[in-house]
Amino acid sequence: MITDIVIGLQHGDEGKGKVTHHLLKSGEYTHCIRFNGGQNAGHTIYHNGDRIVTHAIPAGVFFNVKSIIGSGCVLNIDKLYDEIDMLTSAGVDVYSNLKIAANAHIITEEHLNEDAKDNSIGTTKSGNGPAYRDKYARRGVRAGDIGDLRPFLVDMVEELYYGDEKTAILMEGAQGFWLDPDWGDYPYVTSSHCGVAAALQNGISPRSLRNVWGIAKIYETYVGKRTFQPEGEVFENIQRIGKEFGATTGRVRQCNWLNMKQLLQAFVMNGVNKLIFNKMDVLQEVGEWGVIHPDQIFNSEEQMREYLESVFSPHAEIFFSFSPEFV
Ligand code: IMP
Ligand code: MG
Repeated sequence: MITDIVIGLQHGDEGKGKVTHHLLKSGEYTHCIRFNGGQNAGHTIYHNGDRIVTHAIPAGVFFNVKSIIGSGCVLNIDKLYDEIDMLTSAGVDVYSNLKIAANAHIITEEHLNEDAKDNSIGTTKSGNGPAYRDKYARRGVRAGDIGDLRPFLVDMVEELYYGDEKTAILMEGAQGFWLDPDWGDYPYVTSSHCGVAAALQNGISPRSLRNVWGIAKIYETYVGKRTFQPEGEVFENIQRIGKEFGATTGRVRQCNWLNMKQLLQAFVMNGVNKLIFNKMDVLQEVGEWGVIHPDQIFNSEEQMREYLESVFSPHAEIFFSFSPEFV
């Protein structure tokens, strides 16, 4: 078994979906597993020129790779069928490829109603927090309890350890390390863990771990109730040029310069060995480059790249990437 993990190093929306989609092109993976979160996630993927936003379904379905909604996830069944229909209409063979871990938890109507009333965190109102609360309070409903889901159900242990083939797994993370309930800006966090440990918790042997792809944008964004964006026209420009609106809720994402302190912590704690900076084109158009903690403004992209390389390249391979498609 080999496992590669894709995680967000910021507050979500780093471009994990696009990186996962890109990595799957190698053809080497037998499985693609979403390991945390629910339909609070929005992964924007460009497939054969079409822009597609997925919420629960792993990007493996685009490549006929067995795609599992893992045991660490929570799932809204109505939304799942909407997403299956959307992908099927786009010509993607979801039915042959999608599997759901029998021990993933279900987001119920009550969870949705409760989350709809959230006024303090700025959640996506997708029922995520209440569903995880009930999971850990040991009163949740699991996918394996739902008869309609039977055609999709899979036992993770059978699937990953007792199959005929050697498994090569790509784990598709949702949200980002600074939304993690333990390590993020509590209480302005999500309700599932977002790092490498959360991926492994889906029944993955730690010894199979090969690459940890840490995904960042070249600047920060955050959606939610806390104040994140400093005063300044440059941040408004980043928001506008970067089209920083939530893929799930359409809310404006607040923007800031790249937070080096937080990025380094996420990088170290998750053992990242492949580091991607997305959306380089946005700051090219904005024409300014900066970081905070420590605060520094650069005169050119060249200087910013040199700085980031000096910090990270002794420990990881670094990639600078442009939107919309992974380059
Ligand atoms: P929840 O996960 O819907 O409970 O929302 C909790 C916090 O995490 C809010 O600030 C959300 O905006 C944020 N959040 C949850 N999922 C995502 C995501 O996929 N991208 C960005 N922010 C997210
Ligand atoms: Mg997103």
